[in-house]
Amino acid sequence: MDSMIKILDHPLIQHKISLLRDKNTDCKDFRELVKEISMLIAYEATRDLPLSEVCMETPVAIAKTKIIAGRKMVFIPILRAGLGMVDGAVTLIPAAKVGHIGLCRSENKSKVTEYYCKLPYDVIERDVIVMDLMLATGVSAITAISKVKEIGARSIKFMCVVACPEGAKALREAHPDVAVFCGAMDDGLNDELYIVPGIGDGGDRIFGTK
Ligand code: URA
Repeated sequence: MDSMIKILDHPLIQHKISLLRDKNTDCKDFRELVKEISMLIAYEATRDLPLSEVCMETPVAIAKTKIIAGRKMVFIPILRAGLGMVDGAVTLIPAAKVGHIGLCRSENKSKVTEYYCKLPYDVIERDVIVMDLMLATGVSAITAISKVKEIGARSIKFMCVVACPEGAKALREAHPDVAVFCGAMDDGLNDELYIVPGIGDGGDRIFGTK
C-alpha cells in the first residue's frame, strides 16, 4: 500500500475497532470507542511534529529536553460523523482549534454539497487534520480537503477510523500530498456505498439516530 496511506495496526486500535463492528455495541459505548480510537490515530498522525530543544531545571539538574516547536494545529471534522472524533483528538492536543465542514450527500451519494463551513481565521498558518469516521467513496474527504486548500492551507492530513480501497485510491488521486491515517482498511463498498464489513452508518451509531 501507498506510503501516504498509513493503516494503524496497533493492537489497541484493532481491538477497539472490532468492538465498533459489533452491531450490538450501543450508542454510548460506540461513542466512547470512537473517542479512544481517534486519540490513538491522532497520536500517530502527529508523530512528525517538529521539536525544539529547551533547558528545564529539574529538582536535580538542568535537563536539555524537547518541546513541540510552536506548531499550531486545527482539527476539521466533516459533519456529522467526523464530530465523534473531535473529543479524542482534543484530549490529546487541547490547544488545537476546531473548524467544521458540513457536507450532505446527493440522493445517489456520488456528489456532496457543502451546507456549513466555519474555520478558524488563522487556518492557513496551522497544521490541518481533516477527520471523518469513514473513508467510503472519498467524495466528502476530497471536497473538504479541496475547500481547505482553496482557503490557502498547505499542511493537511486526513484521518479516519475505517477506510476502503476505493476511497483511499480516489483521495490519493485527488490529493496526493495529503497523508491518510486510518484504523482499518476494509474490503470495499457495497451497492449502497456502505463499507464492507464496515461498522454500518457511523453517524447513526454515534448519535443514536436509528
Ligand atoms: N458512511 C457510513 O456511515 N458508513 C459507511 O459504511 C460508509 C459511509
